[in-house]
Amino acid sequence: MDVHAHLFYEYESEEELLQILPQLPADQPVLHIGAGSNLLFSGDYPGIILHSAIRGIETVAETADNLLLRVGAGEVWDDFVAYTVSRGLGGAENLSLIPGEVGASAVQNIGAYGAEVKDIITQVEAIELTTGQRRTFSNAECQYAYRQSIFKNQLKGRYAITYVTYSLCRHPVLNLDYGNIRAVLPITPSATYTVKDVRDAIIAIRNEKLPDPALLGNAGSFFMNPVVPTAQFQALLQEYPAMPHYVVPGGVKIPAGWLIDQCGWKGKSLGRAGVHDRQALVLVNRGGATPDEIMALSDAICQSVQKKFGITIHPEVNFI
Ligand code: EPU
Repeated sequence: MDVHAHLFYEYESEEELLQILPQLPADQPVLHIGAGSNLLFSGDYPGIILHSAIRGIETVAETADNLLLRVGAGEVWDDFVAYTVSRGLGGAENLSLIPGEVGASAVQNIGAYGAEVKDIITQVEAIELTTGQRRTFSNAECQYAYRQSIFKNQLKGRYAITYVTYSLCRHPVLNLDYGNIRAVLPITPSATYTVKDVRDAIIAIRNEKLPDPALLGNAGSFFMNPVVPTAQFQALLQEYPAMPHYVVPGGVKIPAGWLIDQCGWKGKSLGRAGVHDRQALVLVNRGGATPDEIMALSDAICQSVQKKFGITIHPEVNFI
């Protein structure tokens, strides 16, 4: 379903953003978006939407081992990954094919296949929307955690990210031990792989499991993977010995996709909203689904998981 905002402003430079900000009507809310691939609008937006079209990839420092690249927030994330891989640089290849833009990568702390973008971000430049003041956040100041940052919490809605600086390795150390990467790039006595091999493998794995948003509307993982206390995990493991899990600080992470799958939701629909048939963590729009239909499905899934496992799962998608 199409939704509308009162105004949509796209700017191509920090200067242009600084000119726009004082002109925004004070009585309307402002929402800064990236490509919108992780947003679900519940209806028309009664305010102003800002979007960065700041482009460019600039080398700002070089050492024997690393290259620091300062990238405009409006660059398409996967174009940036392709750029690093084409230069043989390591650090971003496991994050291949994630939808969205560079600015949002730093808000969302995107992650996949054993990597998180926080591990390569060195700093984030931003402009405060109400004052127009520039501020540079160090990696530590961004307060990164699993799919979390200060920009989603204390500073939610307060800053427009303009540039993100990433540190890439000239001598990549490949991270191949997550999930089924090894099925595509097996360990053999003679095997030596490149960042390009890893990117190609991850693109193949993602294309196999995750629907292309251009063909079937979806926002990638709809829910975050929950972390449960160790005692609760031990009790669940008695009942479900095959339950996949990863020990993390604070407890044990259980894949939400597995929980939803166990509740029988995979491939099912509620109205025109559905659960993808190859990855239960992904909700899809089977054509013309309204925001209410997607939310009803999301609520029904959360209730099932709560009832069967006693675990509360939370959407990763941002409801607006
Ligand atoms: N599983 C099932 N049934 C399903 C889906 C998953 O049994 O329908 C099981 C799998 O067999 C596996 C486990 O659950 O044992 C984990 O599944 P998978 O490796 O596919 O990863 P995930 O935890 O479901 C996370 C990220 C993805 C990322 C993948 C790969 C979150 C919320 N999601 O998914 O991120 O691509 O790992 O690293 O952390 C995204 O954020 O949009 C996204 C796609």
